[in-house]
Amino acid sequence: MYIAKMAISTVIIRVLALLSTNFLLSCSIQVNPIIEEEQLLWISGQDNIGVYRIPLLTYTPKGHLLAICEARKNGGGDSGPKFLATRRSEDAGQTWKTQEFVLNDGPIVDGLNLGVVIVDDITSTIFIFYQVCGHYVQCNISTQYYIKSMDDGVTWTQPYNVSKQIGTKVFAGGPGYGIQKKHAPHIGRLILCGHSTLPGDGLFCLLSDDHGDTWRYGGMVKSIPYNTAKVKGDFVPDECQPLELPDGSIMVNVRNQYQYHCHCRMIFMSYDGADSFKTDDLRFDTTLVDPTVAAAILYHQGVLFFTNPESDTHRINMTLRWSYNNGTTWAGSLPVWSKDSGYSTMTAIPNNVQDSKYIYILYEKGQVSSTQYLSLVKVSLTGDL
Ligand SMILES: *[C@@H]1O[C@H](CO)[C@@H](O)[C@H](O)[C@H]1NC(C)=O
Ligand SMILES: *[C@@H]1O[C@H](CO)[C@@H](O)[C@H](O)[C@H]1NC(C)=O
Ligand SMILES: *[C@@H]1O[C@H](CO)[C@@H](O)[C@H](O)[C@H]1NC(C)=O
Ligand SMILES: *[C@@H]1O[C@H](CO)[C@@H](O)[C@H](O)[C@H]1NC(C)=O
Repeated sequence: MYIAKMAISTVIIRVLALLSTNFLLSCSIQVNPIIEEEQLLWISGQDNIGVYRIPLLTYTPKGHLLAICEARKNGGGDSGPKFLATRRSEDAGQTWKTQEFVLNDGPIVDGLNLGVVIVDDITSTIFIFYQVCGHYVQCNISTQYYIKSMDDGVTWTQPYNVSKQIGTKVFAGGPGYGIQKKHAPHIGRLILCGHSTLPGDGLFCLLSDDHGDTWRYGGMVKSIPYNTAKVKGDFVPDECQPLELPDGSIMVNVRNQYQYHCHCRMIFMSYDGADSFKTDDLRFDTTLVDPTVAAAILYHQGVLFFTNPESDTHRINMTLRWSYNNGTTWAGSLPVWSKDSGYSTMTAIPNNVQDSKYIYILYEKGQVSSTQYLSLVKVSLTGDL
C-alpha cells in the first residue's frame, strides 16, 4: 500500500515536472543574455608558446566543459609546428585545470591544424579531428586524423589516420564542433563539416553511421569556379559550423571567403542528415555582416545563437546575437568585446536544469591583435547572475 502510494506520487511529480518543463520551454522563448563572467584560458607567449589560436569548446558526456586549441610553437601562421592543447572544467566553467599538451607534432614544417570536436552521446566518446600538411608546405600528402577519449577528455587514444578511409584531399574541419543527429533522419549519425583549400574549395561534410568506426564524405557544395584560382566575388564556401534543428534538418553557417553577393554569412540547409545540400536552399544573411572569419552558431532551448566579429572589414567587435525563428530575423545582440576579436565557438551543457540557463563562448581576443588571448565567456540567458 505504502509502495503503491509512493509510486503514484512519483508519477504525479514526474507528470508535473514534465508539464512545467514544457511550460517553461514554450514561455522561455525569451532570453535576456548578460555576461556573468569572463576569464582568459590561454595567453599567447605563456609556457613558451608563441600563439594560441583556433578555439574549440564542448560539453562532455559527464556534463563538464572541454576547451581545445592549437598551441603554435613559433607563433604566427597557420602552418608550422604545434601542440594540441586542452583545458577542462568540472564545475561549469568556474575553474579550469592547467593545460595539457595532448599531441606534439614534432619539428614538422606544416603541422597539425584544428579541427572539430564531436561528442557521441550514445557511446560517451569525444573525438577531436585535425589534419597535418593542410598547406603543402614542404609536404605533399595531407592526412586527416582523430584522437578519441572514453573518459570525458582526461586521456586520449593514439591518432587514427582517417585518410585511410576518406583519402588525402585537404579537409579543414570546422573549426568548431560536430554534431550527432538527435532527430530523424539518421538518428545517431556523427557529422562534421569543413572546407578544402583553394582552388578546390567548398563546403564538405564527413559522416559516420557506426559511432566513428568508419567515415565517408557526405554532402558538399563546391566553389564556383571549381579547381580554378579565385578572384574577389567568387562563390567560395569556407570555414563552417553545422547544427541540428528540432525537425531533424541541418543548418550550416558558412564563411563567405570571397564575399560573393555580400560581406555576410552564407546559410546552407540539409534535410537528409548532411548526405546532400541544395544550392536552392542557400541564403545569405545580410544581418550577419562578417569580415571573413570562423563564426559560431548554437541552438539551445529553442533559441538560435550566433557569434562573430560584427564588422564587414575588420576582426573587431565580438557580438552575440539571438533569434527566436531559426535565424529568419535576429531579436537582439549583446556586445562581448569591442576591440580585436577573431574566431569564436559556443557550447551549452545539455540535460542539466541547473546549467541550462547558461551558454559558453570561447573566442580569440586582444587589445592590439585578435591572437593575444583565448577567452571564455559565461553568458546567463535569464538576465540575472
Ligand atoms: C613529395 O614530397 C616528397 C618528400 O618531400 C618528395 O620526395 C617528392 O618529390 C614530392 N612529390 C611531388 C610530386 O612533389
Ligand atoms: C594516412 O593514410 C593515407 C592513406 O592510406 C596515406 O596516404 C598517408 O600517407 C597516411 N599518413 C601518414 C602520415 O602516414
Ligand atoms: C559593433 O557592433 C555593434 C552591434 O553590437 C554595432 O552597432 C556597431 O556598429 C559595431 N561597431 C563597429 C565599429 O563595427
Ligand atoms: C524553427 O525550425 C523548426 C524546425 O526545426 C520548426 O519546427 C519551427 O517552427 C521553426 N521556428 C520558427 C519560429 O520558424
